[in-house]
Amino acid sequence: MMIKPDAVERGLIGKILNDISEAGFEIISLKLTHLSIDEAKSFYSVHKDRPFFNDLTQYMSRSPIVAAVLKKENAVSEFRNLIGDTDPVNAKEGTIRAKYAISKGENSVHGSDSNENAEIESIFHFPN
Ligand code: CMP
Repeated sequence: MMIKPDAVERGLIGKILNDISEAGFEIISLKLTHLSIDEAKSFYSVHKDRPFFNDLTQYMSRSPIVAAVLKKENAVSEFRNLIGDTDPVNAKEGTIRAKYAISKGENSVHGSDSNENAEIESIFHFPN
């Protein structure tokens, strides 16, 4: 998972990590980092042909993020339930995006969408 620039900029790292812990996730790896534009393009390469790709990669590289690897039974789907819909307007009450996200683009957190991508994204942030 990542805590994205809009949330780090607003001092929400502690609140979001607390929500994650309270929901029963174990934090396996954790770091504060600042993606370069090329790293953001690489991370989101699956979206390279989408109209929002330029805005997404500019935003993800504009200031620091937190990257973490989480552990829980059915972690991918459980985490998606915790964070809520991509667009905060559609996110259920009490979810992280309903509480903190600004917009569909600046939506405070990223969660992997499959076990396969969780492994790829974990290796991206924690190669060793
Ligand atoms: P995320 O879960 O990190 O995965 C891809 C990201 O692209 C998504 O969250 C949003 O931040 C962003 N995104 C998806 N759709 C749009 C959109 N229509 N406009 C802007 N950003 C989008």
